[in-house]
Amino acid sequence: MTLQWEQTNQTSERLGEMVVVALSDKGIQKGTLLSFLDHSVQGGISQLLKKEGFKGKGGEARLFPLFHTGSIRYLLAVGAGKEENALHGIRKLAIRAAREARRLKVKSICIELPAAYQSSEALQTAIEGVILGGYQFDQYKSESEPSVLQQISFFLKKKLPPIAFKKAVLFGEKFGTATNFARDLVNTPACDQAPRVLGRHAEKIGKLPGISVRVYTKAEIEKMGMRSFLAVAQGSVEPPVFIHLKYKGRKKQKVGLIGKGITFDSGGLSLKPGQAMETMKCDMSGAAAVLAVFSVLSELKPEVSVEGFIAATENMPSGSADRPGDIVRTLSGKTIEILNTDAEGRLTLADAITFALRQKPDVLIDTATLTGACVVALGELCAGIMGNDPKLVSALRKAGERSGEKIWELPLIEEYKELIKSPIADLKNIGGKGGGTITAGLFLQEFVGEFKHWAHIDIAGPAFTEKEFEDLPRGGTGSMVRTFLQYLLNC
Ligand code: BES
Ligand code: ZN
Ligand code: ZN
Repeated sequence: MTLQWEQTNQTSERLGEMVVVALSDKGIQKGTLLSFLDHSVQGGISQLLKKEGFKGKGGEARLFPLFHTGSIRYLLAVGAGKEENALHGIRKLAIRAAREARRLKVKSICIELPAAYQSSEALQTAIEGVILGGYQFDQYKSESEPSVLQQISFFLKKKLPPIAFKKAVLFGEKFGTATNFARDLVNTPACDQAPRVLGRHAEKIGKLPGISVRVYTKAEIEKMGMRSFLAVAQGSVEPPVFIHLKYKGRKKQKVGLIGKGITFDSGGLSLKPGQAMETMKCDMSGAAAVLAVFSVLSELKPEVSVEGFIAATENMPSGSADRPGDIVRTLSGKTIEILNTDAEGRLTLADAITFALRQKPDVLIDTATLTGACVVALGELCAGIMGNDPKLVSALRKAGERSGEKIWELPLIEEYKELIKSPIADLKNIGGKGGGTITAGLFLQEFVGEFKHWAHIDIAGPAFTEKEFEDLPRGGTGSMVRTFLQYLLNC
């Protein structure tokens, strides 16, 4: 459903069915929409807030039904908190607002942002938050209740110039819808999300202006010599595809984005235990991020050119599956001893990296649900980043801060390279007992070779969550979509 966005600086009793305000511990400030509403109910709101001991802490929220204020039915007061990341505070407020609007079946809402944060950047973030908060994956529910929200107005001290407002709407909407698209891709079960289905999504994206796509078939992948990627695919009845997307920006400078695209990771013959497999449809979250980024590039029009690469396959056990001990020759010529078929992501990424480097990008970034060890190290709310270009790593972390995604750097420790050496091949696909995220990063680095502008982002933690958070839905989260878009726009 298309949403209507407005801005206003006029207090009125017809602002929307629900008014959403950020409230600090300083209480109700003069001249705000909240003070207007409070006034119109003879100070009833401030009394209630006091009685309830509302402190304005982050995460705190109260919903007040209002009976005598025109068309306004609800007031949602959200604690402004002491956010270190003020923009993310705004995003969370908007997410909350959209979730409440859905629950209360409200058609129109009015959001008053904290007085200090009414810039176009803040507005864009709030718009993004409303879209993110409205997300629900209900395609497989026989009965679902779609959101009825239609109209969102922002109450501002000073309205933005129309052009700035329009831009905030465009960027906020695209950042939000792209993230939600990635969430849909991840949440769609593997039975309906075979590699060829990802290929079809890519082909559809390839019809957008300024974007071209080529989907390589299994026969073509064989011809190219991606034998490491093919080893992962050989156990599945679903044929693999290799996806190459291109977006041409105004600049010649080119960013390559690789996403791990394992549509289901059973572990292969090194089979995962049942419970660990339950969420493994999420193993194509990197690919989802790349597709989602490309789905909005022709509208956001970053200046930099972008190419996307996805080696899409299932990882399944069968009579034709790759076996522990098998040795494969990669596209790069390097050989790998596969000791654990569950460390399959790096086998597919190795060939994707070689292919990507042949397209001569200026920067190469890969993102992958690569290691359980990264979840152990950083938990489910933080991605791990490694790379050989400190400037690139810091630019990505900065983009992450802006988009509300946590990214923490791990070191690529030279000495650990010993751990991925094989006595009978160039490399083996597992390391030692500890440092699993780092040895996976080092493994990828072997294929990056002399190229000096590479970063790897392990999203095994943040790509998927089994419980809902204040700012994240359950299931696929759309990890790295907004960070990548932000990074590309900063280039
Ligand atoms: N897809 C998994 C990593 C993963 C784990 C993603 C949990 C999301 C949540 C990956 O292919 C894998 O199985 N890695 C192994 C590597 C090991 C065999 C060296 C792991 O982390 O256990
Ligand atoms: Zn695996
Ligand atoms: Zn995997």
